[in-house]
Amino acid sequence: MPSVIRPDIESLGFSGINKIATTALEDPEVIPLWFGESDIVTPDFIRQAASAAMDGGKTFYSYARGQLPLREALLAYHRRVYGLSLDPDRISVPGATMTSVMITCQCLVRPGDEVILVSPYWPNIRTCVQIMGGHPVDVRLEEGPERWSLDLDRVVRAITPRTRAIYVNTPSNPTGWIMSEEEGRALLDLCRKHGLGLISDEVYHRNVFSGAVAAPSFLTLAEPDEPVFILNGFSKAWAMTGWRIGWMVAPRHLAEPIAVLAEVNTTSAPAFVQYGAIAALEQGEPFLQSFIDRCRINRDLVFQTLGAHPRVELLRPEGAFYAFPRIEGVTDSLALATRILAEAKVGLAPGYTFGEGNQAHLRLCFAIRTERMAMAMERLCAVLDQLD
Ligand SMILES: Cc1ncc(COP(=O)(O)O)c(C=O)c1O
Repeated sequence: MPSVIRPDIESLGFSGINKIATTALEDPEVIPLWFGESDIVTPDFIRQAASAAMDGGKTFYSYARGQLPLREALLAYHRRVYGLSLDPDRISVPGATMTSVMITCQCLVRPGDEVILVSPYWPNIRTCVQIMGGHPVDVRLEEGPERWSLDLDRVVRAITPRTRAIYVNTPSNPTGWIMSEEEGRALLDLCRKHGLGLISDEVYHRNVFSGAVAAPSFLTLAEPDEPVFILNGFSKAWAMTGWRIGWMVAPRHLAEPIAVLAEVNTTSAPAFVQYGAIAALEQGEPFLQSFIDRCRINRDLVFQTLGAHPRVELLRPEGAFYAFPRIEGVTDSLALATRILAEAKVGLAPGYTFGEGNQAHLRLCFAIRTERMAMAMERLCAVLDQLD
């Protein structure tokens, strides 16, 4: 009897990150660098704001696009960080950044549509496109010699009559690439020329090592009514990965449809969680600066240790908190990550899961304590020394 379950859904499987991590989640000896988070508990002032809100009775349903105090705090944040006065109808807080990614795909992707994914990419975007019945089309960044970069001609060659949208994530998970403003302008012009939507995942917007306040954003390039979706969140800047809250900036006329989509996806972000988010926006700069300093030190450590290994090619990450080294001669990234886990007790994500052409790569998150990072690099290099 044929299954009533959609084949697209029945065939869903774990990403390479979960495939390996679920084998050793409870092993205390493993130094886990496979997920995108640090070992820092959310700062006290954020926890206290959420707990005071909960004690004060903020336990009810809230407006699907986020409560007014949080949306006002977001408007002030955009003024401060980007010098922009956004139309309040453009900002929504439907749940985590992940939820905004899914809602954006629900807005754009019809069955059979192609979505160009600037790769290497975070694997969940591919899954969202597939769940909507769309087809992901990888366009890989140029790797080196000094940095990752976007070759627009490659994007142009990937566009077909079925292309609906382009997804780009900058600063990038997993490469640490930061799109320059010129690259952004050119990509936006291309979208305009071909009538494509643009999904800009800017969840690492503050995780920047150059000293800039934030990475270049499509917020300052796109017009308010263009089909450009800017997705953002609290997870990566304020150590709030478990809180499941983020925001999106969308075309003005979609305010109501996005409220409806938020309603059926999450109903709303939890009310008391939204008060923690306000505290992060209003009081979070000192924490953020100390976190960026830690990540910069760790980035340099990884670059100087792992990056100097004779088997390794590593481009220096400009933002986010990942390194994406290429290991010379490797053809099976999952087998290598599995070997490193067994022999060195270091948890890494296999490159293949970040799109085509990454079988020789591994991803590691460098946001944990520097001493643990140093230990992980020592153990990892010892395994690489033994490779044939
Ligand atoms: C590129 C990218 N987008 C979105 C997310 C999801 O963020 P959130 O935890 O806020 O849902 C992640 C998390 O790793 C990510 O790396």
